[in-house]
Amino acid sequence: MDTKLNFQDAAGFQTPLLAVFVVDIAIGKDAEPLLVLLTTSDAVTGAAAKVLASGEFKATLGETLLLHAPNGLKAERLLLVGLGKAKGLSVDEVRKGAGTAVRAAKPLGVRELAIAFPEDHALDDEHLETLPCALLSRVLIEGAELAELDWDTYRSERKDRSVRVLSVIAKDVEKSTRAEIQEGFDAGLIVAAAQNFTRSLVNEPGNILTPTELGKRAAAMCAEMGLKCEVHSTAKLLELKMGAFAAVAQGSEQPPALIVMTYEPQLAKGETLAKDAPVLGLVGKGITFDTGGISIKPGDGMEKMKYDMAGAGAMIGAMRAISQLKPKVKVIGVVCSAENMPDGKAYRPGDVVTAMSGKTIEVINTDAEGRLVLADGLHYAKTLGCTHLIDAATLTGACVVALGTLNAGLFSNDEETWQKFMASTAISGEKFWRLPCTDDYKDQIKSSIADMRNTGANRWGGAISAAMFLKEFVGETPWLHLDIAGCAWNDESRPWIANGPSGIAVRSILEWVWSYSD
Ligand code: BES
Ligand code: ZN
Ligand code: ZN
Repeated sequence: MDTKLNFQDAAGFQTPLLAVFVVDIAIGKDAEPLLVLLTTSDAVTGAAAKVLASGEFKATLGETLLLHAPNGLKAERLLLVGLGKAKGLSVDEVRKGAGTAVRAAKPLGVRELAIAFPEDHALDDEHLETLPCALLSRVLIEGAELAELDWDTYRSERKDRSVRVLSVIAKDVEKSTRAEIQEGFDAGLIVAAAQNFTRSLVNEPGNILTPTELGKRAAAMCAEMGLKCEVHSTAKLLELKMGAFAAVAQGSEQPPALIVMTYEPQLAKGETLAKDAPVLGLVGKGITFDTGGISIKPGDGMEKMKYDMAGAGAMIGAMRAISQLKPKVKVIGVVCSAENMPDGKAYRPGDVVTAMSGKTIEVINTDAEGRLVLADGLHYAKTLGCTHLIDAATLTGACVVALGTLNAGLFSNDEETWQKFMASTAISGEKFWRLPCTDDYKDQIKSSIADMRNTGANRWGGAISAAMFLKEFVGETPWLHLDIAGCAWNDESRPWIANGPSGIAVRSILEWVWSYSD
């Protein structure tokens, strides 16, 4: 989307559609709504006065109301966009509001819209938490860009439904504020482009996006962005003794891909990173299609298993944004990509495989393949010098049973790292819920013949058993595990985003990486 930032009066702005946010400042659950437009333009407020007084519009999050030929405005249409209650308004609600404006504009056929930058001068702090304008402008553009994406790549008749957003500032703001707003805007564009890159990767079907193709796309992205990238296949896996990863891959005609992307911070002349500076390892599960292997999955809904590379997609997207945001911390992205297929050469339940770390694994179920590829990915990232690890994976159906589709599972072996991540989610707006992986769960993965087994001893707490398995390969290294099985794909569209791949984890990972930047 071709998006520009304009600093001028909203009322005098010539546009097919001007979107303005509306909040409810009424206090109390059952209070009648008391609506306020987030603009300092009296003309805009005046144009909406009648319809607001009618009570037809409640300004709940995701709600919109369209007015044609608004009185006193240059805009052809005025779109009121609800953000919900003013008290405790979060940046994520602004993000979603911006998305709602874009998605509401699409069916109208307008090709261009303007969003009035939310200004809270009209309200006192009691009603509206003060949100820094750089952050506001960042989430505004993130929400708009994320909402813009619709896929018709595989339709023979492709409709252009794109819309261009021009963000408008109603008042002539000070120079310093302009610079802050511009900075947030630029960062928002980078973050949203990365998340959309991830979403488009995850959307690709398994016959197109094979592990080799995923490797090619990651390499092309890295070449474009100036990141170092290596893509290896079977020979390297065997050379590195990645017995767990190789076992998963061996049942497919498609060779696996081990993708390693490296970001080195650019330092000023004479500047050096501390000897003990952190090196962050981003490890992604990249199963381009998961049939379950010999422990084959039921047919119903199996087509969705093309999104079993969403963790890998998130890491590749995150690396893309990192190359542009340029944090002062080294980051290594490791993606373990394979296709999990049943075949004469496929690994079987009962097999014992040896992971790169030297630990032996009894395979109980070939459908628990994600933890096998990640076991080698996590260990490999450690050998590359990573001091902190984060993995993202559509790992278990059990996590979806436990948390549903609103919160993703979060596991960690380190309180400080966990806290840093939680702080990041306050800005990203993505929801993660911590589940335990304390050593008292270790019995779950005990094997009678090998160091461990790849499934839990019983049906209960399957997301935890999977995390316990991964924990065996990170050792003492501070580690976060994101089980995104329930959140990586939205079956239903929302007012602010299309259905399909969500791009979950990209924003939180970026924020977390940024928290280590010197
Ligand atoms: N890719 C699946 C997990 C999954 C389920 C992702 C639903 C997205 C939506 C994973 O590889 C898997 O099949 N896990 C098994 C593990 C079991 C065999 C211990 C599961 O969750 O059933
Ligand atoms: Zn599986
Ligand atoms: Zn899987």
